Amino acid sequence: MEKKVSKIGILCSGGDSPGMNAAIRAVVRTAIYNGLEVYGIMRGFCGMIEDDIIRMESRSVANIIQRGGTILKTARCKEFMEKEGRKKAYDNLKKRGIDGLVIVGGDGSFKGAQIFSSEYDIPCIGLPGTIDKDIAGTDFTIGFDTAVNTAVEAIDKIRDTADSHDRLFIIEVMGRDAGYIALHSGIATGAENILIPERKTVMDDVIKSLQEKEKRKKLVNLIVVAEGDDFGGGGELAKHIKKIMPLLEVRVCILGHIQRGGSPSCLDRVIASRMGYHAVECLLEGRFNVFVGIMNNRMHYIPLNEAVKKKQRISEEWMNIVKILST
Ligand code: F6P
Repeated sequence: MEKKVSKIGILCSGGDSPGMNAAIRAVVRTAIYNGLEVYGIMRGFCGMIEDDIIRMESRSVANIIQRGGTILKTARCKEFMEKEGRKKAYDNLKKRGIDGLVIVGGDGSFKGAQIFSSEYDIPCIGLPGTIDKDIAGTDFTIGFDTAVNTAVEAIDKIRDTADSHDRLFIIEVMGRDAGYIALHSGIATGAENILIPERKTVMDDVIKSLQEKEKRKKLVNLIVVAEGDDFGGGGELAKHIKKIMPLLEVRVCILGHIQRGGSPSCLDRVIASRMGYHAVECLLEGRFNVFVGIMNNRMHYIPLNEAVKKKQRISEEWMNIVKILST
């Protein structure tokens, strides 16, 4: 498909992530620099269906690079999963002459973009915006660095009080299907155990390691668990441990959505700016229906239809690091 684009739309979809605004700013300004018209689509694919679309100028994105969330708002749009919804969305784009799209979101959003671009002649470029970092083909996703640093800051504080009281703390972090926040924040805070959806949690092993530590009088322990862990998250874990080790003082802290908010880190602002710039370059060069990733500090363009099939893997090496360093 070789065609020239002249009017592009940008939207955010799925869970928000810090740095989405920096990406919007980069796309809008790069597009305008290259003579394109830019439209902001509100609330993700829902705004496309409902024709909630606004013209954007360079000043529309002033003073947003440092702000968390997304000025375009975001949503998970069920109607877009239906053929009829996508037809409505297409008609609205066509009516305005929008002939290219940039979608900032996670793998679910890429799936929507991939289906849409296979049905209609509107090229789509994805930008990986998710705190979960669960997209294969890129070393970074917009928002992960900020989210994981928010988690680290919170867990450091929890360790202070855990240490004063000789307590076991279970900290539940975000990650319905992905363990990257748990893994990174757990390693960075010296957690004794890290439980993630990508690995089956063997509770007997967790208990054994706690009992062994108890024998050594190591009473301060932090377990970082991803919300999507197969054992069932922080609450379930605490109940189970209390049943088997009733004398242990256990507390649970669920970090929740604070991990999704806040001013983006320098890294997130920079990768969002680079990716946003390259998304527009892709549309100008006719490199369509890809997502823009960064690997080994170079831009990578991965076809959307490949991206939706691949899953990030967490190698055994990571788990070994956790085991060895937490003794
Ligand atoms: O943004 C990804 C994510 O943070 C997941 O880790 C989490 O399970 C999910 O979003 C929760 O999102 P929401 O509360 O918006 O449904």
